[in-house]
Amino acid sequence: MLQRILPHCVAVAEARDDPPEARLYPEEAALVSRAEDGRRREFTTVRHCARQAMARLGVPTGPVLPGRHGAPRWPGRTVGSLTHCDGYRGAALARDTDVLMLGIDAERHAPLPPGILEAIALPQELRRVSDHRARHGAVHWDRLLFSAKEAVYKAWNPHTGQRLEFEEADIAFDPDAGTFTARLLAPPPAQLLAPPPAQLPAPPTGAPALPDRLDGRWTVDEGLILTAIAVPTPR
Ligand SMILES: CC(C)(COP(=O)(O)OP(=O)(O)OC[C@H]1O[C@@H](n2cnc3c(N)ncnc32)[C@H](O)[C@@H]1OP(=O)(O)O)[C@@H](O)C(=O)NCCC(=O)NCCS
Repeated sequence: MLQRILPHCVAVAEARDDPPEARLYPEEAALVSRAEDGRRREFTTVRHCARQAMARLGVPTGPVLPGRHGAPRWPGRTVGSLTHCDGYRGAALARDTDVLMLGIDAERHAPLPPGILEAIALPQELRRVSDHRARHGAVHWDRLLFSAKEAVYKAWNPHTGQRLEFEEADIAFDPDAGTFTARLLAPPPAQLLAPPPAQLPAPPTGAPALPDRLDGRWTVDEGLILTAIAVPTPR
């Protein structure tokens, strides 16, 4: 499902259950030694997926440890993203020469609990959700909006080091094309944590340009919602 919504330069791996052969590196295992069983299983399987993605991309496999704000740290010059929910684990990884920012999110295809949509959505997003519901009632647009915001955060935060509140991304879906756009309303961070790839020309102002809009794709299938954002590296 993930490959359907990501470009082919992104290596993906997915699992619908927790394979017994999935293993952790000792430094990863130490992080979940006291975690409850469900957390340990999702953490282990998603890292198993991450190593499959590393192998598919042709980079050496290794541990995936949390960095700043919990974002996974990736080897060498790669960017990646992880997601897990009940019955699904997914990993996506790309070379930073191909992809600048990458974020994926999976959710069960079910309505959000009462009150959550109102807490995460901007007024214009509430209107769009209501409009989409009237025309395309088979999709849980509230959950899809939540998922898209999580994918935005996972793409944005590791690249910028900046937190992003739910009201700082204005998301609009194209129900027929399976795409969405996220207009970023947060002020750009003064300085990027991640330096731009070496081959990029230095921006004229000295400050790396950040997109104020992220484009993503979504799909609903097999009881799941998947959203993904892969911002191409400027050439
Ligand atoms: C971090 C967060 C995005 C995770 O999303 P989630 O739907 O709860 O959980 P998922 O299973 O899909 O993803 C979990 C994975 O996200 C990754 N992750 C955690 N923090 C991250 C960050 N700051 N940046 C990128 N990825 C992150 C981790 O790999 C984690 O898995 P792991 O703990 O096994 O390594 C979410 O918990 C969160 O903090 N959201 C608040 C911020 C936000 O979404 N703002 C909206 C902006 S529009």
